[in-house]
Amino acid sequence: MDNSSEGKANSIEEVVNVAEFEAIAKRKLPKMAYDFYASGAEDQWTLRHNKIAFSRIRLRPRVLVDVSKVDMSTSVLGFKVPMPIMVAPTALHKLAHPEGELATARAASSVGTIMVLSFSSSYNLEEVAGASSGLKFFQLYVYNDRKIAESLVVRAENAGFKAIVLTGDTPRLGRREADIKNRFTLPPNVTLKNLEGLMSVELDESKGSGLEAYASNTMDRSLSWKDIGWLKSITQLPILVKGVLTGEDASLAINAGASGIIVSNHGARQLDGVLPTIVALEEVVNAVQGRIPVYLDGGVRRGTDIFKAFALGAQAVLVGRPVIYGLASDGQAGVEKVLKLLSDELELVMSLCGCCSVDDIKPSHIDRASDFF
Ligand code: FNR
Repeated sequence: MDNSSEGKANSIEEVVNVAEFEAIAKRKLPKMAYDFYASGAEDQWTLRHNKIAFSRIRLRPRVLVDVSKVDMSTSVLGFKVPMPIMVAPTALHKLAHPEGELATARAASSVGTIMVLSFSSSYNLEEVAGASSGLKFFQLYVYNDRKIAESLVVRAENAGFKAIVLTGDTPRLGRREADIKNRFTLPPNVTLKNLEGLMSVELDESKGSGLEAYASNTMDRSLSWKDIGWLKSITQLPILVKGVLTGEDASLAINAGASGIIVSNHGARQLDGVLPTIVALEEVVNAVQGRIPVYLDGGVRRGTDIFKAFALGAQAVLVGRPVIYGLASDGQAGVEKVLKLLSDELELVMSLCGCCSVDDIKPSHIDRASDFF
């Protein structure tokens, strides 16, 4: 649909775009692991439309601009990065590769960008902190036992993580039907390693997805905006709220003291039928009015997607599944190649649109008259 060359690469060497990594990963991974990574919630409408919505936005390039030097660098929460592309927090990288999050962290560090480590990682946060000197943020879920979050936030700060990313869209797990059918569970060598010593984790897959059953017993469904105050009382780190899709919630995030917002629908794994993130972005940006930075994830697969997100007001993007597919295909080198392909593509589209820096990317680079709007 949006990637005519999808699935044609037989080996890493042949890969020319990010989408091609998926076919390699699919061939390599057990079905349960691939389905866990790939699937979205229910009918997967939002999963498809995260990508379709990008493809419906047309560009308005400017020509005869001196683009002999194109600089993609930006700063995220004051940290300078050479590219505006971060690694989104995704669970259980060891299902993709034995080196799991260690390899992902090394890859992010080697290209100079930020990794957001998932709460549900398969190496613990101290191990991942020790794997590379690169910049890292820690993504937080809040369980019924608040002491777990408190302990992990303190550990993350001590280990050198530079921000807490509070995921706001997961009071319960979305219904991922492939996981239900596969009776998703963890192989013996993979655990939710951050929780070791804090609680025992047992997945009951007898009635469907073991993860869904586990989450329904552990996630604190009472978590609300006032708890940002609680988080701020236990950490000095800036807090990003992930999962915002409306102007109303963007305003609440600012009032609660968030340092930034990630427009995200959790890779379409939570509530099916929600807006594609690139569609939701504009409303959030309008509500925020430049007071805090707005980032975006969901369906970013091309440099043009990143460019479109910037034109609509995002200040960086994050990528989830492409990183996992790169990891499954070729470990650290695979993740590096994914991030490099995206940044090379962004550099090209900036050059072809007449933009020498990310600040040059403006709403006028988007065609407002298209049927999408
Ligand atoms: C996720 N995502 C996610 N988000 C989060 O806050 N904590 C988590 O542990 C996870 N785990 C996770 C696992 C897998 C397999 C996927 C695909 C996604 C959501 C993630 O951070 C991000 O929002 C999406 O992945 C972005 O969409 P794309 O790039 O995958 O289309």
